[in-house]
Amino acid sequence: MKGIIFDLDGVIVSTDKLHYAAWKKMADDESIYFDEQINNRLRGVSRMASLEIILEKANKTYTDEEKLALAEKKNNLYRELLKELTPADRLPGVTKTLDELKARGFKLAIGSSSKNTPQILKYIGFDGFFDAVSDGNNITHSKPDPEVFLKASEMLGLSPEDCYIVEDSTAGIEAGLAGGFSTIGIGDAALYERTLYKIRSFDEILGIVK
Ligand code: G6P
Ligand code: MG
Repeated sequence: MKGIIFDLDGVIVSTDKLHYAAWKKMADDESIYFDEQINNRLRGVSRMASLEIILEKANKTYTDEEKLALAEKKNNLYRELLKELTPADRLPGVTKTLDELKARGFKLAIGSSSKNTPQILKYIGFDGFFDAVSDGNNITHSKPDPEVFLKASEMLGLSPEDCYIVEDSTAGIEAGLAGGFSTIGIGDAALYERTLYKIRSFDEILGIVK
């Protein structure tokens, strides 16, 4: 194995909590029921597809224009919350583990559906750290489609069989499997039966990859 592609939200940094807070505010303002369980279904899913999942609980139908306005409202709230991020918000074990993987010669990439990836990487001090960044700005299909991971491996100059993907979402694990990658799951994805390597803490990656 030569490369490792990391999801961002919920793997490198807990922006998953900020996504939840922003969607929750939008849903409350619209009197739409929304909870953590529904939020788990949004992991790895694009902004508009996430909105569609939330609107399953709505009592009225929204026009396409209204949907775009709701998604923009959520994104503006989310971007305000992102401003508070610092390198201290990297998840436990991330800094040490990534440094060690680099030292072992692995090429490291980000594979995230988020269009806010560049800003997030800057806030947490990872601007320029990864060998490749594939994100919501360069894909047309979000996870579970493998596109974002395939683009990442292509940017690294590696084939999927030579790469692991690290994910916290079931959609992301499915994307990894569809692309022919070895899958490592943390959090929600560690409870998923189709995940190849299930981990409880980020540093366990060091004992898996070779
Ligand atoms: C990640 C998150 C999803 C989010 C998606 C799009 O995959 O896990 O919850 O919906 O990115 O994020 P964006 O920042 O572009 O709205
Ligand atoms: Mg995630």
